[in-house]
Amino acid sequence: MYIIEKSLKLSENVYEIWVNAPHVTRNAKAGQFVIIRTDEKGERIPLTISCISGDLVRIIFMAVGKTTHALAAIPAGGSISDIAGPLGTPSEIKQYGTCVLVGGGVGIASTPVIAKALKEAGNRVIGILGARNANFLILEDEMAEICDELLIATDDGSKGHHGFAADLLKKKIDEEQVNAVWIIGPTIMMKVTSNATRDKGIKTFVSLNPIMVDGTGMCGSCRCVVGGKTKFACVDGPEFDAHEVDFDNLMQRQRYYMEHEKEALSTWQE
Ligand code: FES
Repeated sequence: MYIIEKSLKLSENVYEIWVNAPHVTRNAKAGQFVIIRTDEKGERIPLTISCISGDLVRIIFMAVGKTTHALAAIPAGGSISDIAGPLGTPSEIKQYGTCVLVGGGVGIASTPVIAKALKEAGNRVIGILGARNANFLILEDEMAEICDELLIATDDGSKGHHGFAADLLKKKIDEEQVNAVWIIGPTIMMKVTSNATRDKGIKTFVSLNPIMVDGTGMCGSCRCVVGGKTKFACVDGPEFDAHEVDFDNLMQRQRYYMEHEKEALSTWQE
Protein backbone atom coordinates (compact mmCIF):
# COMPACT_ATOMS: atom_id res chain seq x y z
CA MET A 1 0.00 0.00 0.00
CA TYR A 2 1.19 3.53 -0.75
CA ILE A 3 0.14 6.44 1.43
CA ILE A 4 -1.32 9.62 -0.05
CA GLU A 5 0.37 12.20 2.16
CA LYS A 6 -1.48 15.22 0.74
CA SER A 7 -4.62 15.62 -1.31
CA LEU A 8 -5.90 18.96 -2.63
CA LYS A 9 -8.56 20.15 -5.03
CA LEU A 10 -6.97 22.61 -7.47
CA SER A 11 -9.96 23.59 -9.57
CA GLU A 12 -13.25 22.12 -10.74
CA ASN A 13 -12.57 18.36 -11.07
CA VAL A 14 -8.76 18.80 -10.96
CA TYR A 15 -6.91 17.27 -8.00
CA GLU A 16 -3.35 17.11 -6.70
CA ILE A 17 -2.06 14.20 -4.65
CA TRP A 18 1.37 13.49 -3.16
CA VAL A 19 2.11 9.78 -2.87
CA ASN A 20 4.90 8.31 -0.78
CA ALA A 21 6.71 6.14 -3.34
CA PRO A 22 10.51 6.11 -2.93
CA HIS A 23 10.92 3.46 -5.67
CA VAL A 24 9.47 6.02 -8.10
CA THR A 25 11.19 9.16 -6.81
CA ARG A 26 14.65 7.56 -6.71
CA ASN A 27 14.78 7.09 -10.48
CA ALA A 28 12.18 9.46 -11.96
CA LYS A 29 13.13 11.85 -14.74
CA ALA A 30 11.23 14.65 -16.48
CA GLY A 31 8.57 13.43 -18.91
CA GLN A 32 7.98 10.04 -17.29
CA PHE A 33 4.76 8.69 -15.83
CA VAL A 34 3.36 6.21 -13.33
CA ILE A 35 0.49 3.72 -13.44
CA ILE A 36 -1.79 3.71 -10.42
CA ARG A 37 -4.39 1.27 -9.12
CA THR A 38 -6.60 2.50 -6.29
CA ASP A 39 -7.33 -1.06 -5.15
CA GLU A 40 -6.31 -4.59 -6.11
CA LYS A 41 -9.19 -5.07 -8.54
CA GLY A 42 -8.99 -1.52 -9.87
CA GLU A 43 -8.32 -0.26 -13.36
CA ARG A 44 -4.73 0.80 -14.13
CA ILE A 45 -4.47 4.50 -14.95
CA PRO A 46 -1.40 6.24 -16.40
CA LEU A 47 -0.63 9.64 -14.85
CA THR A 48 2.29 11.97 -15.50
CA ILE A 49 4.85 12.75 -12.80
CA SER A 50 4.40 16.45 -12.02
CA CYS A 51 7.00 16.96 -9.28
CA ILE A 52 9.36 15.01 -7.04
CA SER A 53 10.10 16.05 -3.47
CA GLY A 54 12.10 13.61 -1.35
CA ASP A 55 10.11 10.36 -1.26
CA LEU A 56 6.94 12.03 -2.51
CA VAL A 57 5.69 12.10 -6.07
CA ARG A 58 3.11 14.69 -7.08
CA ILE A 59 0.36 13.67 -9.46
CA ILE A 60 -2.24 16.04 -10.84
CA PHE A 61 -5.29 14.63 -12.58
CA MET A 62 -8.79 15.44 -13.71
CA ALA A 63 -11.62 13.34 -12.28
CA VAL A 64 -13.36 12.19 -15.44
CA GLY A 65 -14.08 8.48 -15.01
CA LYS A 66 -14.75 5.91 -12.32
CA THR A 67 -11.14 5.43 -11.22
CA THR A 68 -10.12 9.09 -11.21
CA HIS A 69 -13.25 9.98 -9.20
CA ALA A 70 -12.37 7.20 -6.76
CA LEU A 71 -8.79 8.48 -6.52
CA ALA A 72 -10.03 12.03 -5.85
CA ALA A 73 -12.22 10.72 -3.03
CA ILE A 74 -9.25 9.26 -1.08
CA PRO A 75 -8.36 11.73 1.70
CA ALA A 76 -4.83 12.59 2.89
CA GLY A 77 -3.61 9.68 5.03
CA GLY A 78 -5.46 7.17 2.86
CA SER A 79 -3.70 4.80 0.48
CA ILE A 80 -3.67 3.25 -2.97
CA SER A 81 -2.72 -0.35 -3.71
CA ASP A 82 -0.10 0.21 -6.45
CA ILE A 83 2.01 2.83 -8.08
CA ALA A 84 4.26 1.44 -10.83
CA GLY A 85 7.03 3.55 -12.26
CA PRO A 86 8.80 5.54 -13.36
CA LEU A 87 7.64 4.44 -16.82
CA GLY A 88 8.32 5.71 -20.32
CA THR A 89 11.27 7.38 -21.97
CA PRO A 90 12.34 10.63 -20.28
CA SER A 91 12.16 14.00 -22.08
CA GLU A 92 15.11 14.78 -24.34
CA ILE A 93 16.79 17.29 -22.04
CA LYS A 94 19.87 19.09 -23.33
CA GLN A 95 21.05 22.60 -24.03
CA TYR A 96 18.91 23.88 -26.92
CA GLY A 97 19.08 27.64 -26.29
CA THR A 98 15.55 29.01 -25.89
CA CYS A 99 12.79 26.52 -25.09
CA VAL A 100 9.05 27.14 -24.90
CA LEU A 101 6.80 24.90 -22.82
CA VAL A 102 3.12 25.09 -23.67
CA GLY A 103 0.68 23.53 -21.20
CA GLY A 104 -3.04 23.31 -21.86
CA GLY A 105 -5.65 22.53 -19.18
CA VAL A 106 -4.63 19.65 -16.93
CA GLY A 107 -1.63 19.11 -19.27
CA ILE A 108 -0.03 22.01 -17.37
CA ALA A 109 0.63 19.42 -14.64
CA SER A 110 3.56 17.98 -16.62
CA THR A 111 5.29 21.28 -17.34
CA PRO A 112 7.12 22.22 -14.08
CA VAL A 113 9.28 19.09 -13.96
CA ILE A 114 10.33 19.54 -17.62
CA ALA A 115 10.84 23.31 -17.22
CA LYS A 116 13.08 22.71 -14.22
CA ALA A 117 15.19 20.11 -16.04
CA LEU A 118 15.58 22.41 -19.06
CA LYS A 119 16.66 25.29 -16.81
CA GLU A 120 19.21 23.07 -15.09
CA ALA A 121 20.58 22.15 -18.53
CA GLY A 122 21.28 25.85 -19.16
CA ASN A 123 18.31 26.84 -21.36
CA ARG A 124 16.25 30.02 -21.35
CA VAL A 125 12.75 28.71 -20.62
CA ILE A 126 9.49 30.41 -21.57
CA GLY A 127 6.24 28.98 -20.23
CA ILE A 128 2.86 29.42 -21.90
CA LEU A 129 -0.16 28.22 -19.93
CA GLY A 130 -3.59 28.02 -21.50
CA ALA A 131 -6.95 27.22 -19.89
CA ARG A 132 -10.67 27.59 -20.49
CA ASN A 133 -10.82 30.39 -17.90
CA ALA A 134 -8.85 31.75 -14.92
CA ASN A 135 -10.42 29.17 -12.56
CA PHE A 136 -8.88 26.32 -14.54
CA LEU A 137 -5.33 27.72 -14.50
CA ILE A 138 -3.06 25.60 -12.33
CA LEU A 139 0.58 25.86 -11.16
CA GLU A 140 0.89 29.46 -12.35
CA ASP A 141 3.04 30.62 -9.39
CA GLU A 142 5.27 27.56 -9.58
CA MET A 143 5.86 27.99 -13.32
CA ALA A 144 6.48 31.74 -12.86
CA GLU A 145 9.22 30.88 -10.40
CA ILE A 146 10.94 28.32 -12.67
CA CYS A 147 10.58 30.05 -16.05
CA ASP A 148 12.41 33.14 -17.34
CA GLU A 149 9.10 34.35 -18.74
CA LEU A 150 5.53 33.15 -18.29
CA LEU A 151 2.60 33.95 -20.57
CA ILE A 152 -1.05 33.14 -19.92
CA ALA A 153 -3.98 32.64 -22.26
CA THR A 154 -7.61 31.94 -21.41
CA ASP A 155 -10.37 31.10 -23.87
CA ASP A 156 -12.72 33.65 -22.28
CA GLY A 157 -10.13 36.37 -21.58
CA SER A 158 -10.61 36.15 -17.78
CA LYS A 159 -6.79 36.18 -17.40
CA GLY A 160 -3.94 37.05 -19.77
CA HIS A 161 -4.38 36.85 -23.53
CA HIS A 162 -8.00 36.39 -24.69
CA GLY A 163 -7.57 33.38 -26.95
CA PHE A 164 -5.41 30.30 -27.25
CA ALA A 165 -1.91 29.34 -26.13
CA ALA A 166 -1.16 28.74 -29.84
CA ASP A 167 -1.59 32.49 -30.51
CA LEU A 168 1.06 33.30 -27.89
CA LEU A 169 3.41 30.64 -29.26
CA LYS A 170 3.12 32.08 -32.80
CA LYS A 171 3.80 35.60 -31.46
CA LYS A 172 6.80 34.44 -29.45
CA ILE A 173 8.29 32.66 -32.49
CA ASP A 174 7.93 35.89 -34.51
CA GLU A 175 9.59 37.93 -31.74
CA GLU A 176 12.64 35.80 -30.97
CA GLN A 177 14.53 32.70 -31.93
CA VAL A 178 13.03 29.59 -30.34
CA ASN A 179 15.03 26.37 -30.52
CA ALA A 180 12.72 23.74 -29.01
CA VAL A 181 9.08 23.53 -27.98
CA TRP A 182 7.06 21.15 -25.77
CA ILE A 183 3.28 21.09 -26.06
CA ILE A 184 1.28 19.12 -23.49
CA GLY A 185 -2.49 19.15 -23.27
CA PRO A 186 -5.61 17.72 -24.88
CA THR A 187 -4.86 15.90 -28.16
CA ILE A 188 -6.74 18.41 -30.32
CA MET A 189 -4.84 21.28 -28.66
CA MET A 190 -1.48 19.55 -29.33
CA LYS A 191 -2.46 18.94 -32.96
CA VAL A 192 -3.46 22.56 -33.60
CA THR A 193 -0.67 24.19 -31.57
CA SER A 194 2.10 22.13 -33.17
CA ASN A 195 1.17 23.64 -36.55
CA ALA A 196 2.68 26.91 -35.25
CA THR A 197 6.17 25.42 -35.36
CA ARG A 198 5.82 23.09 -38.37
CA ASP A 199 6.80 25.51 -41.16
CA LYS A 200 9.64 27.00 -39.14
CA GLY A 201 11.17 23.56 -38.60
CA ILE A 202 11.40 24.08 -34.83
CA LYS A 203 11.95 20.84 -32.91
CA THR A 204 8.62 20.21 -31.16
CA PHE A 205 7.66 17.50 -28.69
CA VAL A 206 4.19 16.43 -27.62
CA SER A 207 3.34 14.06 -24.78
CA LEU A 208 0.72 11.56 -25.97
CA ASN A 209 -2.01 10.18 -23.76
CA PRO A 210 -3.46 7.10 -25.47
CA ILE A 211 -5.32 4.36 -23.61
CA MET A 212 -2.77 2.28 -21.67
CA VAL A 213 -3.06 -1.03 -19.82
CA ASP A 214 0.26 -2.58 -18.78
CA GLY A 215 2.56 0.38 -19.52
CA THR A 216 5.45 -1.92 -20.39
CA GLY A 217 5.05 -2.52 -24.14
CA MET A 218 3.25 -5.87 -23.82
CA CYS A 219 -0.46 -5.25 -24.50
CA GLY A 220 -0.35 -2.94 -27.53
CA SER A 221 -3.26 -0.78 -26.35
CA CYS A 222 -1.18 2.42 -26.44
CA ARG A 223 -0.05 2.04 -30.03
CA CYS A 224 0.03 5.17 -32.10
CA VAL A 225 1.39 6.16 -35.51
CA VAL A 226 4.50 8.33 -35.59
CA GLY A 227 6.38 9.00 -38.83
CA GLY A 228 4.21 6.36 -40.53
CA LYS A 229 5.38 3.66 -38.10
CA THR A 230 3.59 2.01 -35.16
CA LYS A 231 4.99 3.09 -31.81
CA PHE A 232 4.03 2.17 -28.25
CA ALA A 233 3.56 5.36 -26.27
CA CYS A 234 4.36 3.64 -22.96
CA VAL A 235 7.89 2.60 -23.91
CA ASP A 236 8.80 4.56 -27.08
CA GLY A 237 7.17 7.71 -25.65
CA PRO A 238 5.10 9.28 -24.23
CA GLU A 239 6.96 12.18 -25.91
CA PHE A 240 7.26 12.17 -29.70
CA ASP A 241 8.13 14.56 -32.50
CA ALA A 242 4.90 16.55 -32.86
CA HIS A 243 5.31 16.94 -36.61
CA GLU A 244 5.35 13.17 -37.15
CA VAL A 245 2.36 12.18 -34.99
CA ASP A 246 -0.87 11.02 -36.65
CA PHE A 247 -3.20 12.90 -34.26
CA ASP A 248 -6.41 11.85 -36.06
CA ASN A 249 -5.56 8.18 -35.55
CA LEU A 250 -4.82 8.87 -31.87
CA MET A 251 -8.12 10.70 -31.32
CA GLN A 252 -10.03 7.86 -32.96
CA ARG A 253 -8.35 5.27 -30.70
CA GLN A 254 -8.98 7.40 -27.58
CA ARG A 255 -12.74 7.14 -28.26
CA TYR A 256 -12.83 3.29 -28.35
CA TYR A 257 -14.05 2.69 -24.80
CA MET A 258 -16.01 5.92 -24.26
CA GLU A 259 -19.38 4.16 -23.82
CA HIS A 260 -17.91 1.57 -21.40
CA GLU A 261 -16.24 4.36 -19.41
CA LYS A 262 -19.55 6.27 -19.09
CA GLU A 263 -21.32 3.12 -17.98
CA ALA A 264 -18.63 2.28 -15.38
CA LEU A 265 -18.82 5.82 -13.96
CA SER A 266 -22.59 5.84 -13.62
CA THR A 267 -22.58 2.38 -11.97
CA TRP A 268 -19.92 3.59 -9.49
CA GLN A 269 -21.92 6.76 -8.72
CA GLU A 270 -25.18 4.85 -8.03
FE1 FES B 1 0.41 -1.81 -23.16
FE2 FES B 1 1.76 0.31 -23.94
S1 FES B 1 0.22 0.20 -22.43
S2 FES B 1 1.87 -1.68 -24.74
